Amino acid sequence: MKILFAFSEVRPFAASGGLSDVAGSLPKAIRSRQHACRVVMPLYGSIKQEYRSLMRLIAEFQVPLSWRNQYCGVYEATYNGVKYYFLDNEYYFKRDDKQLYGYYDDGERFAFFSKAVLEMLKYIDYQPDIIHCNDWETALIPVFLNVSYRGNDEIYDRIKTVFTIHNIQYQGQFPNDISWDVLGIPWYSASILDYNGCVNYMKGAIETSDMVTTVSPTYAQEIMNPWFSYGLDPLLRERQYKLAGIINGIDMTVNNPETDPAMYHNFSVKTLENRRENKRELQKAMGLEQNDDMLIGIVTRLASHKGLDLVKYIFDEMMSKGGIQVVVLGSGDRDLEDFFQNMERKYPGKVKTTIGFIPDLAQKIYGSVDLFLMPSKSEPCGLAQMIALRYGAIPLVRETGGLKDTIQDLGGENGNGFTFQSYNAHDMLGSILRAKEYYHTENWQKAVEHAMYCDFSWGKSAMEYIKLYKKVLGA
Ligand code: GLC
Repeated sequence: MKILFAFSEVRPFAASGGLSDVAGSLPKAIRSRQHACRVVMPLYGSIKQEYRSLMRLIAEFQVPLSWRNQYCGVYEATYNGVKYYFLDNEYYFKRDDKQLYGYYDDGERFAFFSKAVLEMLKYIDYQPDIIHCNDWETALIPVFLNVSYRGNDEIYDRIKTVFTIHNIQYQGQFPNDISWDVLGIPWYSASILDYNGCVNYMKGAIETSDMVTTVSPTYAQEIMNPWFSYGLDPLLRERQYKLAGIINGIDMTVNNPETDPAMYHNFSVKTLENRRENKRELQKAMGLEQNDDMLIGIVTRLASHKGLDLVKYIFDEMMSKGGIQVVVLGSGDRDLEDFFQNMERKYPGKVKTTIGFIPDLAQKIYGSVDLFLMPSKSEPCGLAQMIALRYGAIPLVRETGGLKDTIQDLGGENGNGFTFQSYNAHDMLGSILRAKEYYHTENWQKAVEHAMYCDFSWGKSAMEYIKLYKKVLGA
């Protein structure tokens, strides 16, 4: 079985969120189970020289996009045992701004990428059985395959496609003229992409791929409900027969408190005193009082759907209870950045906010804080709660999507965190105060140990993907 993964970002080459972590670890897990797989992504201008030096140009061709013909170079590199293809076109992917997305022509940039992935197959020595596409940036691959490639060239006829939704909020919606002016879709096929009067790439992939998956079983159910679906629920209900939810795993080698170079002191379940020492170090580094207050960590994109409006709403009330410190790391919406910076000023020695995306500090927070807060409004899977567990930080989450599938409340059997159900600030505060009470009992240590034993490695999920690929191939 030969799989080709298409991703718009892959760690460590280019990363803006959880998608890149999955892209950096799922293929490794598939490969270690003896299935051939390769990964293709854009060659962004921001990819560092240390990775570029591993690359070798293996093919060059033109990609037709309606009336355009655009250059594409294919670079190949092997990294950690996995073979990668990087697609080069400086006009699309070498932008002064280091951002991966957010340009006026994103629709065209990723149409180019998707078409180039299919064109590339004529020039390389790898003909996949399945192309596994991820999120809207690669959603046109199954669409182009169906509309323009199948039936014309035998290398395309037997290729199957799997499309994974990592976040349904971003669908790739563009004005209708993109269909003929950029994509070159013939008028009689235009309805595949048409949704509510505009072109919707994700809709096209849901229609044309052989299987649609999302990153947790609960989210697979949720997106068939209008509260979560951003308009796609009628379509998903109709296509339910090919929809599945498979929970993500985390990379247990990268995320290992025993070896992680970011730790002040490495630790394991057996050396939790080092973890306590880490808390002191983090408190010191963040300018917080070095005491036994319950230290809460928040590492996230600062966006309201991460549940931060709940945090905002009860922040003062929470701090008024005493015995709580908060450390925040993230960037995003201006008003949330301002809010957390204001809280730092208002509660000196108790609150520290760092604006930015700083992986090293993120790991230090996982390896030091007592409670890890993730009250998301919706969360397709979420990786931070699993990393937190691995590092002995007890997650407090809202019961949605992957958070619901991975965290059970310590009030019940086999609990590994604290949960609350409705999207309500005082329900969340109630759970935080419950956690604070628990924190001062001897059960806390046991909870930390249990958390660190929870297994969210890719093993089980990789097997589920392999099963799914076999089903798609009729094997
Ligand atoms: C997106 C989702 C997140 C998920 C990640 C990887 O970033 O928002 O919940 O963990 O993709 O699938």
